[in-house]
Amino acid sequence: MQKIIVVDYGSQYNHLIARRIRELHVKSELWANRDVANRIKNDPDVVGVVLSGGPNSVYEKDAPSVDLSLFELGIPILGICYGMQLMVHLLGGVILASKEREYGRQTLRLDKPSAPLFQNTASEFPVFMSHGDRVEVLGDWFEADASSQNCPYAAIHHRLLPLYAIQFHPEVVHTQFGNVILANFLELCGCRRDWKMESIVQTEVDRIQAAVGETDRVLLGLSGGVDSSVAALLLHKAIGTRLTCMFIDHGLLRSDEVAEVMSELTRHFRLNVVVVDASNRFLEALKGVVDPERKRKLIGEHFIRVFAEEAAKLGHFRFLAQGTLYTDIIESGTQSAQTIKSHHNVGGLPKDMPFELVEPLKTLFKDEVRRLGEELGMPSHLVWRQPFPGPGLAIRIIGEVTKERIRIVQASDKILRDEFAKAGLHKTVWQYFTVLTNSRTVGVMGDGRTYDETIAIRAVTSVDGMTADWARVPYDVLDAVSRRIVNEVKGVNRIVYDITSKPPATIEWE
Ligand code: XMP
Repeated sequence: MQKIIVVDYGSQYNHLIARRIRELHVKSELWANRDVANRIKNDPDVVGVVLSGGPNSVYEKDAPSVDLSLFELGIPILGICYGMQLMVHLLGGVILASKEREYGRQTLRLDKPSAPLFQNTASEFPVFMSHGDRVEVLGDWFEADASSQNCPYAAIHHRLLPLYAIQFHPEVVHTQFGNVILANFLELCGCRRDWKMESIVQTEVDRIQAAVGETDRVLLGLSGGVDSSVAALLLHKAIGTRLTCMFIDHGLLRSDEVAEVMSELTRHFRLNVVVVDASNRFLEALKGVVDPERKRKLIGEHFIRVFAEEAAKLGHFRFLAQGTLYTDIIESGTQSAQTIKSHHNVGGLPKDMPFELVEPLKTLFKDEVRRLGEELGMPSHLVWRQPFPGPGLAIRIIGEVTKERIRIVQASDKILRDEFAKAGLHKTVWQYFTVLTNSRTVGVMGDGRTYDETIAIRAVTSVDGMTADWARVPYDVLDAVSRRIVNEVKGVNRIVYDITSKPPATIEWE
């Protein structure tokens, strides 16, 4: 079976490249950067190679590299970002740290419209860049195909060998024609495109049954979000009544959420759910804590401890299941990817945890989880709910988490959700919430001076949470939200709108 190898140099998006190739019906595997040239030489199924992006600079000591013989195998190779720089560096060009770094959307201009990678694209289109270094001198072997404002060599090809390279990321949704470019590369590799994705449900059910066995019981932490609900349904399908769900109310949920989630899951799906109110314990643990990573770790840790205590009351469980996604794992840092944030499901696990972990969604992205939810019969208003982070509102309260500050975020978030629903935006905007920014400013209400909190509205479009753009919300909707929050939520006198994409920002503020 023909396959494309993606060599992992540590970018946040590497798994996504392999996935996009699979979506184009070609088998693709992500390989660690170990003895790659030899392994590829000895694997006749490999018809193409992608050298991925990564956080290093090619000149750093110990920067990952690859054996030169890889380029002589005659197999088409596509270098992306770091992969491009590595290719050029090894084949005689020069890479430098550029003064103008490019993060986010840039415009790519084709200098050579006949370039094979760019068949069926436009002559100018938006691409997603994320780099500090860039190719400064191409060397004798490469020719330029496209450029962007700060990147004279944004796409190149080798004059003699089947080597292609691009500085931008074709795998993320914010690059227009990204799939066309990858498809063109597959064409250059001579791929037949006859590989089929299996049904996710059956694959995952088989995997769970193999991991859990026939008698052991599983306890699942329901967070109220889409991921853990889908994980619950999947486990329910795989092991039936051996699944018990526990909903820990850490007091950091959106208003009305506990009741909503409970009624949906128990009414529709007859899941066995135990609810635990641990809000005071979490508030106590978070007292005086302002550092985002510490908040995340503390919440994760207490979550597991409450679990262990409550589970002990319910008899023996060998496994603990969580709705961790692939995104949570990469952003928490893998062997090669850097830690951006310790996601609640991943970072907070104490070493003495009395369970073995089951994470049935950990190779999936959000949109795949939603597809899985639909395949499992989850109603669409549940499947298409916006994502909600494990640590809840704590990471939307900059600075200390107190009862009063939770109240402000809950009340403002409810207004935002109301107004977005009224305007029909809840169907198109991927995630939207309010953030208590921890900055107090002067205002005037009635005839009096106020010195109150500033709320930021965050609303983003995205497909998988890996990259995001700020949503172009109509001014009238922003206006309605702003007026209502200032009028209805005591302690707030200013509203701002966050207009940064991810990267360079992240979706949540902490
Ligand atoms: P960031 O802020 O990293 O968020 O751009 C990407 C997506 O992940 C959600 N998120 C989390 N989900 N546990 C989760 O289950 C977490 O600790 C966590 N932190 C962020 C976030 O809401 C966004 O959808």
